[in-house]
Amino acid sequence: MYRIQIIHGPNLNLLGLREPGIYGTQTLASINEMLTTEAKSLGVTVEAFQSNSEGALVDCLQATFGQKDGIVINPGAYTHTSVALRDAIAAVGLPTVEVHLSNIHKREEFRHHSYIAPVAVGQICGFGAESYRLGLRALVQHLQTTQP
Ligand code: DQA
Repeated sequence: MYRIQIIHGPNLNLLGLREPGIYGTQTLASINEMLTTEAKSLGVTVEAFQSNSEGALVDCLQATFGQKDGIVINPGAYTHTSVALRDAIAAVGLPTVEVHLSNIHKREEFRHHSYIAPVAVGQICGFGAESYRLGLRALVQHLQTTQP
């Protein structure tokens, strides 16, 4: 049974309240519940973690080493700024899927670049909360193909 770490970056604790026109009305708790349900149907386990602090996110990524089989991460604004998160993902070497609720490529120019994308298996963005579910499914399929 694959063990998947879900990681939510800064300000995602405010989902439901935060710019609902961009990020939707679903709360982070309900996204985590949806992922737990999806994980059951896929036969995998998920653990979710959220922090507003870059260092805490690095610590969570480091802790996946030897404990988890893959990572689904929405790095929030750190997507566009954080070499530290990118290096942590590269360091643990686990298959990682980058997800975003919004389509970062059709928003402000500063959101077009991701430090995470080059160390991710792939990126899913623009489908609201569904991006997470698609990301989890894509990761599990990737693991089934590469580490059956
Ligand atoms: C986000 C997109 C980022 O640009 C932004 O800073 C976020 C959320 C998304 O899920 O669409 O905090 O990662």
